[in-house]
Amino acid sequence: MIEINKSSCQAENSNSRGNPLLSVENLHAGYDQSIILKDVSIQVSENEVVALLGRNGVGKTTLLNTILGHVSLAQGSISYVGNSMAGFPPDARARMGMGYVPQGRDIFPTLSVWENLQVSLSLSGSAGEERLDQVFSLFPVLKEMLKRKGGVLSGGQQQQLAIGRALLTNPNLLILDEPTEGIQPSIIDQIEDAIHSIKAEKKMSIILVEQYIDFARGASDYFYILERGSVVKEGPTTQLSDSLIEKYLTV
Ligand SMILES: Nc1ncnc2c1ncn2[C@@H]1O[C@H](COP(=O)(O)OP(=O)(O)OP(=O)(O)O)[C@@H](O)[C@H]1O
Ligand SMILES: [Mg+2]
Repeated sequence: MIEINKSSCQAENSNSRGNPLLSVENLHAGYDQSIILKDVSIQVSENEVVALLGRNGVGKTTLLNTILGHVSLAQGSISYVGNSMAGFPPDARARMGMGYVPQGRDIFPTLSVWENLQVSLSLSGSAGEERLDQVFSLFPVLKEMLKRKGGVLSGGQQQQLAIGRALLTNPNLLILDEPTEGIQPSIIDQIEDAIHSIKAEKKMSIILVEQYIDFARGASDYFYILERGSVVKEGPTTQLSDSLIEKYLTV
C-alpha cells in the first residue's frame, strides 16, 4: 500500500505507472459556497484503467465533473495531454479526447440506436467510423437493435449504447461513472470484457467510478479511495485488500 500526501511517493508512482495522461494536483473544488473536494491528487497514465472508489456522496462524480470542466476548481491544477486545463471549457476538453459516460446513462430516448450512434459519429468523423465495427463486436445487441428507440432498451442495453457512443468519439480518456449501477450480471460481464478489449489496444486510458468492487478489481490497474472529498488510499489494484474494502467501501 502506498501512503498518500508524500511527494516522493508520487514520483515513485509515475515511474512505475508510465507516462501521465491526466494529472490532478492538490485540487479543491465544489459548488457555490461548499467545497466538496479537498486536496485531491490523482494520476491516470497512458493505457491505464484507474478506479475511483468510495461510498455514496464522497465526491466521485464531482471529481469527474471537475476533470471534465463542468465544475470549476477553487485551487489546484489539472493537466491533460501535457496541457493545463485552466480556462478550457467542457467542449474543448471533449475535443481533446475526454469521453464521458455519465452516471445513469446518457442516451437520446426518442432517437433510434442508430441515430444515437450517428450523433457521436457526426462529431468524430472518420476516426469514429473506424470504431463502429469495434462497438458492434463489443456490444452485438446494438447491431441487432439499430432501429429501436433508445428509450425502450433495457437499462443494460442503454448502458452499452452510452459506452458505444462515447467510444465513437474516439477518446484518449474514457470516463465511466458507475457503469454497472442497476445492471444485470451478464451485461456487467460484457462491459468488463469491453474494458479489457479496449485496454489491449493500448490507445486509451479509462477512469472508472465504481461501487461494485468485484468489477473494479477485475477491470482496473490502479485505485484511489475517496472519503469525504479526499483521497485516503491509493495503490495498484492488486493491493486492494479485503480489509480496505471493509474499512472504506462496504455500506
Ligand atoms: N450540483 C450540486 N450542487 C450542490 N451540491 C452537490 C451537487 N452535486 C453534488 N453535490 C454534493 O456534493 C457531494 C458529493 O456528491 P457526488 O455526487 O460527487 O458524490 P458521489 O461520490 O458521486 O456519490 P454517489 O456514489 O452517490 O454517486 C454530496 O454531498 C452532494 O450532495
Ligand atoms: Mg456519483
